[in-house]
Amino acid sequence: MKKKLVISTGAGMSAESGIATFRDSGGLWDKYPVMEVASADGFARNPKLVHEFYNQRRRELVNAKPNAGHLGLVDLEQWYDTYIITQNVDNLHERAGSKNVLHLHGELMKVRAIDDETKVYELKPDALATTPDTVIDGHRVRPHIVFFQEAVPNIEPAIELAQEADVFVVIGTSLNVYPAASLLHFVRKGVPVYYIDPNPAAVPQGVTVLKMKASEGVAKLAELLKPKS
Ligand code: APR
Repeated sequence: MKKKLVISTGAGMSAESGIATFRDSGGLWDKYPVMEVASADGFARNPKLVHEFYNQRRRELVNAKPNAGHLGLVDLEQWYDTYIITQNVDNLHERAGSKNVLHLHGELMKVRAIDDETKVYELKPDALATTPDTVIDGHRVRPHIVFFQEAVPNIEPAIELAQEADVFVVIGTSLNVYPAASLLHFVRKGVPVYYIDPNPAAVPQGVTVLKMKASEGVAKLAELLKPKS
């Protein structure tokens, strides 16, 4: 029976794939007014601007590729039952080959009906741009993204994963945004916790901090977690 490895990732996981983070210098929130482009009020006020913000991020994602960090996490599946909880809305974990990926903040390549949130549609590669007038299956659509001011629908299963983890790893997040940032506090006492980040935020005593980029940190993690032959 393989041990359960639970990994919580943030924007830093995709930085080496060329995807901008949010709060690093030059990050997305330096360039765009977050409450205009990523909040429920912003979407109500100016849906066109919000559609355009996510259209731009989809165009960047299409040209991005999983990096060595994403691929290294797939390798760990040979030794561990591996579950990824991500704040990222990109699909790089899936494209790297990770099987169990739980998105907390939504998925960039999907939209959903405004009048029925259970109707979710994967955008086709040749039709990634949406506007307030886009209609799919008879419904006007919105980005399938959890905007600021909206609840995080998948937080309960994410907390359960953290509680079941035999090893818990946090990669590339400034731990600024809740409830995602609270997950490491649900880990059982005595379970090893690692935090991979070149500019780590403050974390509780006992967390092993690997002060390095995701690609290097995941390689180091594999050395530490590989079963001793
Ligand atoms: N490898 C690993 N980590 C990196 C790298 C890298 N190459 N480059 C930067 N980082 C780290 C930064 O040091 C920082 O701690 O990634 C983190 C990025 O932090 P944020 O930009 O705040 O991203 P994140 O924590 O994922 O933001 C959480 O905020 O705006 C919302 O919904 C959005 O999901 C996002 C949430």
